[in-house]
Parts: sequence; C-alpha cells; structure tokens
Amino acid sequence: MDNPLEHPSSGYKKIFESCEELAEPIPAHVSGKIPAWLTGSLLRMGPGLFEIGDEPLYHLFDGQALLHKFDLKDGHVTYHRRFIRTDAYVRAMTEKRVVITEFGTAAYPDPCKKHFSRFFTYFQGIEVTDNCLVNIYPIGEDFYACTETNYITKVDPETLETIKKVDLCNYLSVNGVTAHPHIEPDGTVYNIGNCFGKNMSLAYNIVKIPHHKEDKSDPIEKSKVLVQFPSSERLKPSYVHSFGMTENHFVFVENPVKINLLKFLTSWSIRGTSYMDCFESNERMGTWFHLATKNPGEYINHKFRTSAFNVFHHINCFEDQGFIVVDLCTWKGYDFVYNYLYLANVRQNWEELKKASMRAPQPEVRRYVLPLDIHRVRDISVISVS
Ligand SMILES: [Fe+2]
Repeated sequence: MDNPLEHPSSGYKKIFESCEELAEPIPAHVSGKIPAWLTGSLLRMGPGLFEIGDEPLYHLFDGQALLHKFDLKDGHVTYHRRFIRTDAYVRAMTEKRVVITEFGTAAYPDPCKKHFSRFFTYFQGIEVTDNCLVNIYPIGEDFYACTETNYITKVDPETLETIKKVDLCNYLSVNGVTAHPHIEPDGTVYNIGNCFGKNMSLAYNIVKIPHHKEDKSDPIEKSKVLVQFPSSERLKPSYVHSFGMTENHFVFVENPVKINLLKFLTSWSIRGTSYMDCFESNERMGTWFHLATKNPGEYINHKFRTSAFNVFHHINCFEDQGFIVVDLCTWKGYDFVYNYLYLANVRQNWEELKKASMRAPQPEVRRYVLPLDIHRVRDISVISVS
C-alpha cells in the first residue's frame, strides 16, 4: 500500500510538516493486494501540527496530537485523521499561541495579561501537557491516546472524536506513566511511571489496570500500584520510556538519563523553560537492571549493573530456564538521545546528518540475560551484582 499520507487529496505535504485533519475518510491507494479476509481498523497517533499561529514548536514530541485510522475491508483501505481536542490543542487554537509548555517548547505568558494576573498564573502550579501524540491503547472497552504525563484522553475509535481527558493522579500514586504499556490477552494493562512521593522520596511504580468486568464499571477506577522499584539516586529519577514484562516478572532498566527534580519543580516560573531543559546525565552510574515478580508484585532485592546506555524501547523479554532474556534497542553512552530529535535536526536528511558527523549515536540491539538465581551469575556476562 502506498503511503496514504501522500494521497493528493490528503493535504499532507511532507513528513514533520503540519497538515489538516480530514472531514471524512478517504480511499487509500493500494499497490499489491490486500487479502479480502483482512478486516479491521488500525489506529495510530502522531504529531500533526508543528506551529501555533506564528509560534513554532521545536521538538519532534511537541507536535499536536493527530489520530490516524486505517480501515481495511474486502481488500480496500480507507484513511481518516482528526486532531484530538486536548486542552493544549483547544487553548492553542483559541489563543493562537502555545499556551501549555510542551516537551521541548516553552509556553510564554499571555502578553496581554497584566503583571498581577501573571503572578497568579505562575503560582497556580505546574500546568502539565495533555498533548497525547505518542500512542493509543485499549483500557477495557475504551481507547485512550497518551503521552508520558498523568493525562490520557479517551477517544471514539469510530468517529475519532475526543470524549474526555482523564487524570491518572486521581486514581494512582504516579506523576505520569509511559506511553508503552503491556496488555495481557485478557485486557489487563500494566504500565510504569515515576512517583515523586512525600519528603521527595523517589520510586518507579508498576501500575495495573484490570480487564473489563461484566458490571461495565470503568477499569481505571480499580487501578492500583502493584509494585515499586527504588530510585538509585535521590532527587534525580531516571527517565523511563518503557519496561519489560515476562509471564511472571517485570524488568525495569534504570538508565543514566536523569530528571533534575529540583530544576523541574522550580524552573516552571522561569521564562523559556521546557521539559527538555530538566534532563541531565549521570556519567558514573552506568545502567541498572531491576526485577520484580508479577503475582504477587514484589521487588527482587538485587540488581544488575552494566555500562551506560540510553534505552527507550524494549524489543522482547522472556523467561528461559531460570534466566530472564531482555532484548533492547539501545544507544551507547549517557548523553540524552532526545537532544538529536529537535525538528531542526530531523527535518534534514539523515544521511547528510550522518556524513556531517553530527555525533548522534547509532542504535544497537543488545541482549542481556539475567539470572533469577543470582548464584548462577558466573555463567553469564553481567558485570556486577549488588
Ligand atoms: Fe516510544
């Protein structure tokens, strides 16, 4: 199938450029043959609007959330897309400026407001973005678009209309969860998120959202924290993008990309600060692997250390003869790879960028094999155990 985003009537010009939503589905151009038996819908999220009025958005993860839908039936494919009516989007459209700070783009106060009202704006607390451009997944019988904050947005998978915004902090002790949950065949959802607790105690919480029940109750209302991984550093939790899950265990890779929490909590009143400004690297910690059991959820109180790398996505994770095999997509070193994902970089030709030695590290697929019985550790290539 050709890329339907390039359909002449779709209005989509080029990747990483803004496009308009569609009033109704359009036929996709199909090359080859789609089997007649292949029926269903594919929902995908992505960034679709890269400037608000005259203000540009700067990072790949700042574009406003656009929901895409591909419908397959009888060998034909149709394509539809709509922007999600998040608060970030609706307020930006209303005020024609960036109103809520995005990952790599800071929102500035309304220049029309007087100093007095600005003062109160600053002290109303951190206004966290709900721009759910990263992923979409089912919870019970519903579908939620998400980013990595505490907000997820329920959408109608048929019409692509926005239904409601949900604040996970109302149900769970987390400050946000990743956009990459694991979903069991019965619909149970597991995810992981940072938890900045009382007295600045830090942890990473695995949360469990139960599967749909006969009584039609909302599974989110029955969600809970299942198990907690401790943070290796006080005041500076690691950035977490995904985690591993096997039949009986969770795997959490604590990497050296850190959130400077003090900076995060104080810098929001400083003009021009975005999330990206709050990251830093720990050059000495290397990378830690933590394990926990799933049922019951219990932390396994030893961890494994190896050299520093960035990790965003787990490829696979499984148990084999007393070991846990963890396949990861990694970038060697502690420098934050997201620094290379500013739109100014990604809009250029990647091959040209590589030739120009932008020093962007290349990804490596790595396999780590962790013993469930640490007395077998001599059999494998783990550097140290504590
Ligand atoms: Fe991701």
